[in-house]
Amino acid sequence: MSAPLLEVSSLARHYRVRPQRSLFARSLTLKAVSDVSFAIQAGKTLGLVGESGCGKSTTARLSLGLTPATAGQIRFNGEPLSGRRNARWREMRRHMQMVYQDPLSVLDKRLPVLSQVVEPLDVFTVGKTAERKDRARGMLNEVGLNQALWNRYPHELSGGQRQRVVLARALILQPRLLVCDEPISALDVSIQAQVINLLQDLQQQHDLGMLFISHDLKVVRQICDEVAVMYLGRIVEQGKPQDLFSNPAHPYTQALVSAIPSLARGKGHKRILLEGDPPNPIDMPSGCAFHPRCPQATAGCRELVPPLQTLSGGRKAACLRLSPNT
Ligand SMILES: Nc1ncnc2c1ncn2[C@@H]1O[C@H](COP(=O)(O)OP(=O)(O)OP(=O)(O)O)[C@@H](O)[C@H]1O
Ligand code: SF4
Ligand SMILES: [Mg+2]
Repeated sequence: MSAPLLEVSSLARHYRVRPQRSLFARSLTLKAVSDVSFAIQAGKTLGLVGESGCGKSTTARLSLGLTPATAGQIRFNGEPLSGRRNARWREMRRHMQMVYQDPLSVLDKRLPVLSQVVEPLDVFTVGKTAERKDRARGMLNEVGLNQALWNRYPHELSGGQRQRVVLARALILQPRLLVCDEPISALDVSIQAQVINLLQDLQQQHDLGMLFISHDLKVVRQICDEVAVMYLGRIVEQGKPQDLFSNPAHPYTQALVSAIPSLARGKGHKRILLEGDPPNPIDMPSGCAFHPRCPQATAGCRELVPPLQTLSGGRKAACLRLSPNT
């Protein structure tokens, strides 16, 4: 098999933070992401899920070199991604585009739709000036925005239309990788399915690798080839969605899945309610970070950090109760 499109190894991002707004307060370490590794092949989608603050967006930004890593390596198409924003990084970044939750934060409110899509071509001086508008028109058609909208400004569009402009802007440079950070969560439910279908069509046509972050586990199950579950900055389970959602191995994944009745099918299904305080990445519990909330925790779970190990069938999980023969 060829080198993965994106491969990240042992990524970490720690921040120094002052808990109180005082110059004299002692700064503490916030471990936003620790020891995260994964690979994405061309044409495939890795889903990243987990509760708010677990490190999904930080992982996305680290993967593109938008946030410098405290530790770890990133390879794009087999080549190490430079830690510095030099000319090579900018060239590689052209092939790795990001789609955010809020289209208005990305679009320039002073530019009409067509110019928004021409702009990346201008920035990277792609093609002759005269050809750029033609390419942008072609891209706008591809994302399903009809000509009547091309002279409008972002505030004159619906949320779904704006996200289509963002997709056109991202794809006009013919990237190989798309990192989508909750691309549908700000959209009306009726529009979400349209944008997901569009993303899937575009992925097929352009053979895009995708990192897809979402709180919507049903969508993740539908579109992802693999899913990674994060808890307090670490991947605690990773596998094919059909395995992971129908038979979650890690107690945290079990709780996540149990909250979605249509995913957690089967007789006698009961929702697992997690007890204890929401996690705090500044004050990490010892051993397995999930132990204060884990219904299956034992005394040993306070001592040892469980490694992410491969179980039978190729799934990975980080829990001391699981062994490679599980
Ligand atoms: N620049 C920063 N400085 C300090 N802490 C940060 C910074 N950026 C993120 N964090 C912290 O890192 C942790 C992970 O944040 P991140 O945005 O990656 O979470 P997330 O999983 O994307 O959450 P959400 O689902 O709410 O978007 C959080 O505790 C957050 O407060
Ligand atoms: S290691 Fe212990 S606390 Fe952590 S998930 Fe497994 S059983 Fe729960
Ligand atoms: Mg986020």
